[in-house]
Amino acid sequence: MHQFLSERIQIMEESLTLAMTQKARELKAAGRETLSFSAGEPDFDVPQAVKDAAIAAIKSGANKYTNVSGTDELREAIAAKLKRENHIGYAPKNIVVSSGAKHSLFQLFAVLLNHGDEVIIPTPAWVSYPEMARYHGAKDVLVRTKAENDFKMTPDELRAAISPRAKLVVICSPSNPTGSVYSAEEIAAFGEILRGTNAFVVSDEIYEKLVYGVKFISTAAVSDLFDRTITVNGLSKCAAMTGWRLGYLATANAEIAKAVTKLQSQSTTNASSIVQKAAIAALDGRADADMEAMRKRFEARRDLALSLFEKLDPLKTLKVVKPQGAFYLFVSHEAVEKDSMKFCLDLLEKTGVATVPGVGFEQEGYFRMSFATDEKSIEKGIHLIADFVKNY
Ligand SMILES: Cc1ncc(COP(=O)(O)O)c(C=O)c1O
Repeated sequence: MHQFLSERIQIMEESLTLAMTQKARELKAAGRETLSFSAGEPDFDVPQAVKDAAIAAIKSGANKYTNVSGTDELREAIAAKLKRENHIGYAPKNIVVSSGAKHSLFQLFAVLLNHGDEVIIPTPAWVSYPEMARYHGAKDVLVRTKAENDFKMTPDELRAAISPRAKLVVICSPSNPTGSVYSAEEIAAFGEILRGTNAFVVSDEIYEKLVYGVKFISTAAVSDLFDRTITVNGLSKCAAMTGWRLGYLATANAEIAKAVTKLQSQSTTNASSIVQKAAIAALDGRADADMEAMRKRFEARRDLALSLFEKLDPLKTLKVVKPQGAFYLFVSHEAVEKDSMKFCLDLLEKTGVATVPGVGFEQEGYFRMSFATDEKSIEKGIHLIADFVKNY
């Protein structure tokens, strides 16, 4: 332990996703050819309507601080979007706009969690949930889901994990890293189990538009869950706006919205005024056609990647979970290697292919491969992975 760093920060681990991307960058700088499937961001351009709105915002002189929780017009646009697309009615005053969904989640954890509280996190899970829970003094209760259930938490698994100390249940659908998507019935079953408890639910819907042949359902749209659910979303994944940093949370609970606003007022103030203006164009329908075109490309890439694994790994040494959403393949390499860090580092050293070890998602024996990259790279990468496994 360092004497001068806080205990909180010393228990937090660095994001493995970013660490692998960094390692791949270093190899590239040393002159090696690399193919990166580690980062979680679309390779597409931002919809033209959003770019136009940003340029117009700059020209109109939108250079001032805004309301801490976001401009009225943006929060009205978010409320209208949540009503139209997600069938949830939120008052604009109960919506807080932040600098990315990660920021929204971090602030939500900060205002809800006390020492000793428990956060229920189905795993495999996005790297940041357990870290954020522990940073805020809570205990991360990891619910280990099974591959045969498409890595979805079952009602019995949730029931077994709930204790009187459970403060927050995390639902991420479509899921990073597995791509699984909960149905309305599955979510309704969680609602029944949570009835009578004091647990809140955070529904991370950042991949909502990226679904392939299944229907996405917002957790708060299940009436039983509306009061206890905080809906989190943003523009990073569905509108290819990772670098623009715009996320939001919406809640039925005015106290939570006020607390998040208070925290933000003492830390980052408001999300960028320019991005807030541009975000409206991503939410009001002007960018829908562009976003749907991206979704279609992702679906085609998913199918391409699945067919390549089938062709190049006919013995099915690698087990690929067919994702129903998001833009990741979650692949088991257990047949050749149990240790995911060792597998991914070896793969990177020998072939230049960067993936993310499953251990970073609390799931050993797997790696995550993003298919948010061009078709040629996907083809080349899967050839290299299949050859690597053959010779393992
Ligand atoms: C499940 C999940 N939630 C939230 C985020 C963060 O999104 P943002 O860029 O809006 O902070 C990510 C990004 O990787 C994610 O995968």
